[in-house]
Amino acid sequence: MKGINIGLVGAGNIGQRHIMAIDQVEETRLMAIADPSNGAHQQASARDIPCYKSAQQMLEREALDAVIIATPTARHYDDVSLCISAGCKYILVEKPIAASDLEATNITRQAEQAGCTVLVAHQRRYYPCAAKAKELIETGAIGTLIGVTGQWNCRKDEPYYAPEWRRKTEAGPILTNLIHEIDLLRFICGEIKLVSAHLNRVDQGFEKEDAVAVTMQFENQAVGTFLLSDRTPSPWSWEFALGENLALPKTGQNAVRFLGSKGALEFPNLVLWQHSEPSGHWQNELLPQPIETEFIDAYIAQITHLVEVVQGKAAPLITAHDASLSLKATIAVARAAEAGHQIKL
Ligand SMILES: NC(=O)c1ccc[n+]([C@@H]2O[C@H](COP(=O)([O-])OP(=O)(O)OC[C@H]3O[C@@H](n4cnc5c(N)ncnc54)[C@H](O)[C@@H]3O)[C@@H](O)[C@H]2O)c1
Repeated sequence: MKGINIGLVGAGNIGQRHIMAIDQVEETRLMAIADPSNGAHQQASARDIPCYKSAQQMLEREALDAVIIATPTARHYDDVSLCISAGCKYILVEKPIAASDLEATNITRQAEQAGCTVLVAHQRRYYPCAAKAKELIETGAIGTLIGVTGQWNCRKDEPYYAPEWRRKTEAGPILTNLIHEIDLLRFICGEIKLVSAHLNRVDQGFEKEDAVAVTMQFENQAVGTFLLSDRTPSPWSWEFALGENLALPKTGQNAVRFLGSKGALEFPNLVLWQHSEPSGHWQNELLPQPIETEFIDAYIAQITHLVEVVQGKAAPLITAHDASLSLKATIAVARAAEAGHQIKL
């Protein structure tokens, strides 16, 4: 089978996860890196592959089947546009797809016009627990979806904020972390139609926010709340619940609850709560039913999916347009908080 030759633009924190995944997927080969940092050059020379100072140089000299873009968010638009103009046919860009609605719309349009497939790295969608939660809710396991409540709270370490770009709004927890939650909520519950929010900058005093509280309404009328902060130590976040991030401890504590007319579902370690009697009287005992799903490496699943898309065996799970809707809802949260009123999507 022909291998898929991949170029990586941006070999920082998340770029390393992509490299690990590429190394483990038999059909893929990392052919080159584009990153001006010393670390990237050292890594490339240790692997005996070229490291270019810019994506432009890499695209001029390498024949690539796909490019992965893992540069800081503010660069995504320029990097994706450059790859599309250079004739790339398959691009996997880190989330958020871009730093603004307009950039995301332009990427979607440029990709369509050029016949380029842009996938966006909302890797949580690859976890079987996400697909199972979607299936349970869509098939009525908890009845009519009434609401959802969740949180993502942790305290990132101080060196994390050393790069100036991580102190800016476009790298704050709304755009960096809430977008994962919004993307999964859209995936599992359906489209969001209204958001309102409050935020604070009570701890660090950077341009980026320290915490945000969100309320939302979905098109199916379900309502939702979400509390998110990168400044408070807590066991309640997706990463801690599942043990997704190899560098963070696993707590196993669920962070999201879906509430329906006939039951409730804890997430991401799925537990279905229902009354012991079909009548569902509130005096009946409520019984928890754990639902096991396989724990996978979503980055490997993502690269495997990229291979299938390049080989024409699968349609993209997360397209540029789809990811643009997650970005739009996420940016609306920030706008609603700053404006002090709800925003209709
Ligand atoms: N999917 C996820 O769960 C997840 C997790 C972390 C980060 N991310 C996303 O990945 C992106 C990068 O985040 P990170 O934490 O890896 O950042 P990082 O700072 O660790 O890495 C960015 C890398 O890009 C390189 N770079 C900067 N400008 C460049 C340029 N012009 N050309 C080529 N390379 C350049 C830097 O040298 C650095 O190595 C962000 O958009 C972030 O939102 C996604």
